[in-house]
Amino acid sequence: MSNYTDSETLYAARRHEALFSGKISDDVRPVYHLPARIGWMNDPNGFSFYQGKYHLFYQYYPYDSKWGPMHWGHAVSTDLVHWEHLPAALAPDEPYDDFGVFSGSALVLPDGRHLLMYTGVMNAGKNPDGSIDGRQTQCIAFGDGVNYVKYEGNPVIDSSMLPEGFDPQNFRDPKIWLGSDGLFHSVMGACNKYDRDELPSGRIVQYKSHDAIHWEFECILAENRGRVGSMWECPDTFELDGKQVLLVSPQDMLAESNEFASGNGTLALIGHLDEETGALVEESMQSIDYGIDFYATQTILSPDGRRIMVAWMQNWDSISMGGHRPWFGQVVVPRELSVRDGRLYQWPVRELESARRNRVAYSNVEVEGETMLEGISGRSVDLTIAVRPYDEDDPYTEFTIWFAKGGQFHSSIRFRPAELMLKINRKHSGLRRAVVKDRKCQLLSYDGELRLRVLLDRYSAEIFVGEGEQTLTMTVPTDPALDGISFFAEGKAVMDVEKFDLV
Ligand code: FRU
Repeated sequence: MSNYTDSETLYAARRHEALFSGKISDDVRPVYHLPARIGWMNDPNGFSFYQGKYHLFYQYYPYDSKWGPMHWGHAVSTDLVHWEHLPAALAPDEPYDDFGVFSGSALVLPDGRHLLMYTGVMNAGKNPDGSIDGRQTQCIAFGDGVNYVKYEGNPVIDSSMLPEGFDPQNFRDPKIWLGSDGLFHSVMGACNKYDRDELPSGRIVQYKSHDAIHWEFECILAENRGRVGSMWECPDTFELDGKQVLLVSPQDMLAESNEFASGNGTLALIGHLDEETGALVEESMQSIDYGIDFYATQTILSPDGRRIMVAWMQNWDSISMGGHRPWFGQVVVPRELSVRDGRLYQWPVRELESARRNRVAYSNVEVEGETMLEGISGRSVDLTIAVRPYDEDDPYTEFTIWFAKGGQFHSSIRFRPAELMLKINRKHSGLRRAVVKDRKCQLLSYDGELRLRVLLDRYSAEIFVGEGEQTLTMTVPTDPALDGISFFAEGKAVMDVEKFDLV
């Protein structure tokens, strides 16, 4: 493709967006989370800073609120809080990506062009079991921040460049960066060749290049070895606070202690690089988020040096709750990352504070049974809460925050100090599909006071525990008009609460 105007597929997508996305009222969209412009969104892609703006692309099917042949949607922001949709950037319009333009990343080339690196999936017929044989290769496109032209020499990395014993149908999601050695590097998710009646085991492969076009194999950065889920998707690796961090999204996870839940999940591996092999020497491993709807993380190094992470605020296991909406899929609030004592900490980007309005605060409120407070309600709010026992010798046994509450509907965050368990629950949120409705996490530390920051938006709740050492994220389908918030204690608790509306 020499020029984007030559692509009928991209043209059709842009025409469809232009004709129909304006018909979706702002009232049925999140206030400060980026949703699909129209139709379906999954993984955030190409998170980058180009010509004074943050660019965020995403896995996109504009024609339905279901997954379909993948395009890249596109949005920009100057503050990571308010997003503007741009025309779709990529479409599945080449023989090597006719099954889909899958996930990838972006960076700014030294000559000023914006580079996208993505997985092209080619439909190579059927597997013996009837599934599509999708050959996955890594491709690039160059652009100016709006229009992108696929490189005529695509693919730039194909499965012949994988080491012996790797599966050509699972080789995807390149995350590219420019290293301090002056070379481009890129990591992809891959796995061993496997029989279709067994589970593959994920491996993260790394490639290097002097020009982002000609690549050679560099090393196997990490291996699952059958431990956490199967195939590892969407890798991202970076140095932070003196440690090397690898974020991945494993498929087919098994529930394990209080750390991992079943299904598609997220994993942070923290350690250092082996100087000889380039492989990650793991020192610790954790879930990134303990909620329900969180997958496919990607980070950026912001111009002021912060490592900021986004993720798809949904999960493959909960997509059946989409259905009737004109858009489906959103991106979490961008989160600033840090590593402390071998643990990943997350905190909403500081830019969110400039979207705060209408402060309402109370201190030392005694809560026994259910309490509502004047001015504390809403579905687009930033809530900070600290809860202590009223009487240390006779502590409360349970503390609950109800939100998105009205009529028969509510969702909740419940803390039981005896087990240090924090549980989110959306059973009565108006869910009409039998998707996961609750999740819990055990606090890592507790000094007698529960401290939470809760970000509500029209269709979601994100909970940051303490200083961000744990987070829980879930989508909430309840009618945004139901905006009640109340507090409940079994026994007697004392609470400080501060609330802002987010606009
Ligand atoms: C993760 C993922 C990626 C892939 C994309 C396809 O959610 O499966 O591995 O590139 O979605 O839409």
